[in-house]
Formats: sequence, structure tokens, C-alpha cells
Amino acid sequence: MKRHFSLPVFCLFLSLCIFNVSAPAQYSIVPKPSSIKYLGSKFELNRQTRLIADDEAGFKIAALLNEYLQKNYGFKLPQPAGVPRNKQNSIVIESQSVVPAGLKDEAYGIYIVPQGVRLTGKGAGAFYALQSFLQMLPAEIKNGRTTLPAVDLADEPRFRYRGMHLDVGRHFMPVSFLKKYLDLMAQYKFNYFHWHLTEDQGWRIEIKKYPKLTEVGAWRKETVKERQLNPYVGDNFPHGGFYTQEQVKEVVAYAKALHITTIPEIEMPGHSAAAIAAYPELACKEDKYEVTTTWGIFKQTYCPKETTFKFLEDVLTEVIALFPDSPYVHVGGDEVLQDQWKESLMVQELKRTENLKDEHEVQSYFIRRMEKFLNAKGKRLIGWDEILEGGIAPNATIMSWRGVKGGIQAAKAKHDVIMTPTDFAYLDYGQGDPRTEPLNIGGYVPLEKVYSFDPVPKELSADEAKFIIGGQGNVWTEYMKNPDKVEYMVFPRMLALAESVWSKPEVRDYKDFIKRLPNQLARLDKQNVLYRIPEPTGLGNVILGSDQTSTEIALSPIPGSRIFYTLDGSEPSEFSNPYTAPVKISLTPGSSAVLKTIVMMNNGRKSSTYSAVITNRKMLPASALTDAAPKIEGMTYQVYKGTFNSVQILDGVEPAVKGETKTFALKPLNEKENFGVIWDAYIKVPEDGLYDFAIDSDDGAVLMIDDQTVVDNDGIHTRKTSSGDVPLAKGFHKIRVKYFQKDGEMLLNLRWGIKGRNFTGLSGLLH
Ligand code: ACM
Repeated sequence: MKRHFSLPVFCLFLSLCIFNVSAPAQYSIVPKPSSIKYLGSKFELNRQTRLIADDEAGFKIAALLNEYLQKNYGFKLPQPAGVPRNKQNSIVIESQSVVPAGLKDEAYGIYIVPQGVRLTGKGAGAFYALQSFLQMLPAEIKNGRTTLPAVDLADEPRFRYRGMHLDVGRHFMPVSFLKKYLDLMAQYKFNYFHWHLTEDQGWRIEIKKYPKLTEVGAWRKETVKERQLNPYVGDNFPHGGFYTQEQVKEVVAYAKALHITTIPEIEMPGHSAAAIAAYPELACKEDKYEVTTTWGIFKQTYCPKETTFKFLEDVLTEVIALFPDSPYVHVGGDEVLQDQWKESLMVQELKRTENLKDEHEVQSYFIRRMEKFLNAKGKRLIGWDEILEGGIAPNATIMSWRGVKGGIQAAKAKHDVIMTPTDFAYLDYGQGDPRTEPLNIGGYVPLEKVYSFDPVPKELSADEAKFIIGGQGNVWTEYMKNPDKVEYMVFPRMLALAESVWSKPEVRDYKDFIKRLPNQLARLDKQNVLYRIPEPTGLGNVILGSDQTSTEIALSPIPGSRIFYTLDGSEPSEFSNPYTAPVKISLTPGSSAVLKTIVMMNNGRKSSTYSAVITNRKMLPASALTDAAPKIEGMTYQVYKGTFNSVQILDGVEPAVKGETKTFALKPLNEKENFGVIWDAYIKVPEDGLYDFAIDSDDGAVLMIDDQTVVDNDGIHTRKTSSGDVPLAKGFHKIRVKYFQKDGEMLLNLRWGIKGRNFTGLSGLLH
């Protein structure tokens, strides 16, 4: 009985039924291949399917495939000796010897027809064919039998440099994790591992000639707690570690087997506090230095003197020997505080003798010397884009991180460029609502933003664009204490980045990527990767239209997950409302509701709370100002003399001083006496939306937009933060900030951003 009617009942939704029956399953390969043609038929893989290879490279791929099958599905395929004439029901690996001439090094093909499978590619290409083929296998294979839709797939990378970086200086990461990181990189066809080995907070590579680099430089007495820099609070917990030369070789070899080249970064002349703690004579000013316990940039900088160059050449000589396959050595060059150079008689003398006009040129002199040394050893130098500032070293490759400007300049000067702009490729930046995300360095680079990364800026001509050799994701670990946190920050954003650096622009589409993502997440689950569970699609702030009093919020859970929500402000859990249909929300004029959700994966993992505000408040219209005219520079301020206990009082008082400024800085106004201040300016709102503003102040302060109070942090108090939100139309809006200082500490920090997304400092010139 049951059998009889189950099918018709299921097929009441006829279109759904037809879709399910006849549409071919689509593969979910990431990064998206150049072309996949579905051929309409199927291949059945079973325990009799033979693995056929005819050379060493092919046998290696076959072994990797069998290893994967055994580990994930509990069976292996037979491998006949030699190449049989009848290749029915086989997976043929065409690697070195039979690959068509002209197939590029990393290019590959996969051909699946009812008779069998062919994987074609040489070297890395054969390895990438395998990586894609593994992604084509279903999550489960029962009894060693599955069917694979027939396809003709051809693929090759857009860029020859596809990198992932890892900072092991801020937090040391064990070799076991580096191997996992490399495995995951290889899975998504990355081919360069940028290993950031030295930092202010720790030197991580054994150098035999200078043992104190690791005896002293690899250890710090403690680490700043969370963000408690001012006043400083340490965690009272020593941190450190380093890689022996044997371990470095082990990691480099492990990466090589995955077709990944490991590039060492030995930072100079800045970010060198740990080395200088070990050997203080490397600085221009000898002092007692410590391995730093906080983040930022520090005065400890290598002094450009002969003994320092000798030290660095000795270090690089050992490093080069450990990384024989890397064409590059990265020497950093970023964020150099030049104060010690300015104070050093030796450096001032060097400027005269070498004809260097300023400290940027001293930095350039430093880097050029190192480049000469590296070039003579057959290595190429990579530096962060700061090395452009005093004149670029003749053969340097530029890693452009402060946006793409440095990269554009370098490409126009015919230097190779690797793009790693903070706005797209910094995987240490926040990826969600700062109120519910775990502690991170700040900023907002969500999955979709990473996906939109294109390493080639539009400003470049086709010839100039050839100098962009690729892109890279950077992972700075100030706020990643352990591998779990690295995984949370890196995944799934690394998958989006993989597509930016591998896939052709014409096949890239975020919606399509999101459809392919669940299968990848299931795979990451199997690999015990603690990725960040993506927000439900459709969750975003809503401002109701003027005649609207209700709305419906439709959310799409990613397959393999469920959504639970609340509307009463409470934190959602798996006992809250399960999402089954669009959420209806009615709002009286002037009111708001908060839709709080959690996403729960089928394996029980839960996301943090992801929320959206739905508001029936009128969006404040933009002023008549436009970018074109009239242009307002900076802002005006009025300073009030006297002792106040509320900003309200300022309104009835004559200002003592009036003027124009470009920042909300307090110190220039009055450092010694009690006072009040009002600033007036315009703020440029980039898009329609609900905006959050926050004031962190000691004493009272109020922030108004278009004459409405948005944040009230008024009154006499010690340091305190208040925030508020307001719907704003795109364009210029009036902003007024009032503040008073009464005795003791003086502090004012302002922040703003789209609610639940970014939150950045509101520091100065407002448009
Ligand atoms: C950098 O992020 N300082 C290169």
C-alpha cells in the first residue's frame, strides 16, 4: 500500500518532481572551472572500476585517489599492472607522457562518459585534476557504488600566483596545523604559502649562527589581553615557540608534494623587535629591548649599518638553504617607524654619503642592498608596497596591501605585483556584525566582498595588467590565538578568494558560488575545519517604505542547516522558532523590531547570533549638497570656556573661540582647563541604510544628525560608550558633535557604519 501512493503524493508538486528526476546533478567544484559541459549520460563507479596510470606521476595521483577513497568511503579501486587494452570501466590518469602538447603546466581536463573517466594534466595539472575529481564525488558512497554525471571539463588558472599567507609571529602555530592549512590550500588550488616567520612579538625560525634569535626572540613574557592597550592589561601567560630547521624542511617538503611553493618572510627593517631583543646592537640606539607583548608598530628598527647587513646576510644565507624551491624571499618592508633613524648620527651621516634625501630613501637603500644580495644568490625579492616610497629596488616584486595603488604604480613601472588589498584579501578583518563576532582586528570583509576581489584593477592597460601575477589572502594572527580561531577567520572566505585568483571572470558569479558552497562546507566538516557558518541569505536591515506598516522577511538556509529566530530581543537557540516560512513583521510608525537568528548545521554546530533591524522610521533625506558643488572642506568648531556638567548648557553660551578643523581631536582645543566644544560638519553617507553611531567618551558627548539626537552619552562620567541608529538616505547629512571636558581624563572616540556591518572610526574630514 505504502509504496503505491508515496510516489503520486510526492509528485503532487509536479514541477518539483520533474526537476528532481530529470535535472542532472551539478558538480560544486571550487574554484569554478573554466568550462564544464554536461553530456547528459552517467558513469557508474563501482568496486570493479580500475585505476590506470602509466608513469610515476600517474601512479602518485592514483595512490592519492585510492587513499582518499579508503579514508572517506572505506574502499579502494584495483590497479592493474601496465595499461590494459580494454579500458572499459576505468579511471585513466594521463599525466606526464600522454598529455597533449600545448597543455599548460597547471591546466587539466576531466572527461567522464559511461565507459570511463579520464584525468589529464601534467605535474600540478594532474594534481589539480585529482582535486577537482575528488570534489565531484558525493558526500557518501555506499557499497562502493555511485554514479557520476558525464562531463567534459577543461580548466586552467587565471593567475600563476595564488597565495595564502600565515603570520606565526603574533601567535605560534604548530607544524601539524601548518600541514592541515597546506592540505586545505591545495584542495582549493593555491600554489604559494607565504610563511610570515618573524615579528615584533616572536622570531620563529631557528638560525644556527644566531641562537639567541630563538632562545630570546621566540618568547614573550605575556600577551595583551583582548584590546586592553590603554591602560595596558597583560594575560600573565608566556607565549612562544619556533620551528627548528628540520621542521622548516619538513613543512617545505610537505607543501612541495602538494604543488605549493613556500616563501619565507624575514621582516626588515621594521617589525624586528624580537630580533633586536635578542641582539640589541642591531638597533641604532642600544637599549634594553623586550619581545613586545602588544600589537602595532614599534620604534625598534634595524640600523642600516654594516654589522646589521652582515647579520641579515648570514640569516638569509641559512634561510635560502632551507627554501631551495622558492624563487622568492620576502623581506617585509612595511610599517617602518623611522624615529631611531632620524635620531641616529650614523644614519644622518649615511644620508650624506649615499646622497639620500630622507628616511624613505634610507629604507630604499636598505632594501636595495638586500635585493642585491638575494639576486646574487639567485633569489628574487618581494616587499610590501612601502618599499616603493623611497624608490623601488630594481627587480623587486611588490605585494600591494594598502589598497591597490602601490600595485598599480609598480605594474606601470613594469614590476611584478601580487595583490593583497586589505579591503578584499585581509582574512583577519571582521566578517560580520561586530557585536556578535568573536574578537578580531576590526574592519569588515564579508564573504561576498572577498568574492568580489579582482586582482587586476581597471586602471591598468592590458599590457600593464600582465605584471599582476596574482593575489593572496593574508592572515595576521594578533587576534587568533590558536588554529581553531584561524579556521574560523579563514573559512569559508579562503574559498571565495580561491575563485578570485583561479577562475576566469566570465565564469564567476557569487550566487552560483553560494549554491556550490554547502557541498564544500560538508567537506570541511569531514575535515574538522571550524569554519564560520554563513549568515542566512536574505537577512539584512529593512527600512519600511513610507506607506508600509508590515513586511515579510524571507530567508534561505543553506542546505544542510536550519534557522531558528526570535523577534522579542532574546538570544535565539534551537528551542526558538524554527524558520519554515517568511517571517511576518508589523510595525507602527516610529517603531523597530530586531530579527535575531542562529544557523544550526545538521552536525549540531551553531553559528553566533546574526541579526537584522526592521524599522518603520522615516529615512532622513540627504541635503542638497552634492560631490560637485558646493564643496565643503573640513568642519567648523566652537570652543566654550568654563566648567559644564552637560552639553545642553553649551547652547546658551557665547563661544570663546571659533575656527575650522579637519578632525575631532580634543588636545589642540584645550589641554589644561575645563571646556566645551561643538563641531559642525557634513558626513557623506555611501548608500541608503540604517546607520549606527557610537560615542566613547569621558566626559559627556552627544551626536546629532540632521538636527536629531542620535547618540546621547551626556553627563559627567568616566569612560563610557553609547550608541544609536538612524535611517539615512545616500548623500550628505549634517552632523553636530558636542562634548565637554570636566577634570581628569579627556577622551572622545566616534565610530559609525551600517548597522550590523562595518563600524569604523569617524575621525576627521568627512567627505
Ligand atoms: C601589513 O599588513 N602590515 C603588510
